[in-house]
Amino acid sequence: GNDVIGADIDGGKIGRLNDGIIPIFEPGLEEIVSRNIAEGRLTFTTDIPGAVKKADVIYIAVGTPSADDGTVDLSYVDAVAKTIGESMNGPKIVINKSTVPVGSGDRVKNIIKKNMKGAYEIKVVSNPEFLREGSAIHDFMFPDRIVIGSGDGRAAETIREIYQPLEAPIVMTDLESAEMIKYASNAFLATKISFINEIANLCEAVGADVEKVAEGMGLDKRIGRNFLSAGIGCGGSCFPKDTLGLFHIGRQAKYDLQILKSVIEVNDAQRKSFLKKMTAHFGSLSGKKIAVLGMTFKPNTDDTRDAPSHFIIAELLAAGAKVSAFDPLACTEMQKLYPAVEYASSVYHAAKDSDACVILTEWNEFKQMDLGKMKQIMKKPVVFDGRNIYEPERMKQLGFTYISVGRKPVKQG
Ligand code: UGA
Repeated sequence: GNDVIGADIDGGKIGRLNDGIIPIFEPGLEEIVSRNIAEGRLTFTTDIPGAVKKADVIYIAVGTPSADDGTVDLSYVDAVAKTIGESMNGPKIVINKSTVPVGSGDRVKNIIKKNMKGAYEIKVVSNPEFLREGSAIHDFMFPDRIVIGSGDGRAAETIREIYQPLEAPIVMTDLESAEMIKYASNAFLATKISFINEIANLCEAVGADVEKVAEGMGLDKRIGRNFLSAGIGCGGSCFPKDTLGLFHIGRQAKYDLQILKSVIEVNDAQRKSFLKKMTAHFGSLSGKKIAVLGMTFKPNTDDTRDAPSHFIIAELLAAGAKVSAFDPLACTEMQKLYPAVEYASSVYHAAKDSDACVILTEWNEFKQMDLGKMKQIMKKPVVFDGRNIYEPERMKQLGFTYISVGRKPVKQG
């Protein structure tokens, strides 16, 4: 029910949004945006000063990528804070939605104040984002919690009112703690993933099944089954960046985050050990036709940022393999980066005459594919599954060599 102006410097994006076209793939988003445009509550503009002038509350939601040294690059946050400062025309509350290191709230406030052309009241609130790509709308509408951090009680109360219709638990705290909650949450989830990946590697060594181990662990309510899926490690625009960012925040505070250091190392190693399984199977990958199925960092998104597929595809090509690839949403994007890959229009097209299929993203359509047909069209019935989407016993019965993560490999003959 609020009036919202979306402002961005990218004219192309704003133009498409004004036509109701969403520049990313996010299930359900187009309908919500179109409806709110039609009802006159939502507009988009490149006139950022104009948007600032009209607003009572301003969300900063720009990227905070990793700098070359792994620290958090705050240049986009700084730039938008400067624009807000220059455009101030009355009292405003600025919400930091971007993932920013502890202390950034004060930094934003100072930049705004320095650039103001009059004496206006400015309050800065931290309100970190916890939604996941692919389920962003559900996560927004039904959040586990909302975190509001501010040194100003009235500003915090105004933001609480904005979220009142969502009926979620609201954690009210200071700016610094709110900023820390975001990093600590992402780092903890990444820790769960690296932990289960290490257990998976040990399962392979001792003959246990990580899927059963995760099930048995996850039923303990204190542990929980979520984020205990072993695989080829986490990717995306958040976990790799935020774990590294928090590690450097620790360094700057002269505190060595030892667990986090291992989490990052284990995550990097996981995709490498998956590739090693392929090399070990074939001896040499040179001349082999490998079908890569799935290139996004997870299903239900078109995002390939920091996806394990980059490493696997680059290494397969470097080893002299012929790579065919299919992803329901990422082929066009990946084509620009890896023109040597043959991009297919379906899983079957990619798998035709291949020596092996490699599953890198657990898209539902891969879970449902006709494995009998796959076996017929492949040169060799070999599947490397980086996401454990099939039952080993079924693959054995169908006659596949099936190598997954943290489970006994299925070898034929
Ligand atoms: C993540 C967090 O889950 C969100 O709460 C947070 O708001 C967001 O980052 C952010 O900081 O903006 P997202 O990156 O969209 O969300 O994706 P996730 O669903 O968390 O998955 C991240 C990666 O971990 C994927 O590559 C996924 O395949 C991998 N993963 C996830 C596993 O390998 N195993 C699991 O059990 C779960």
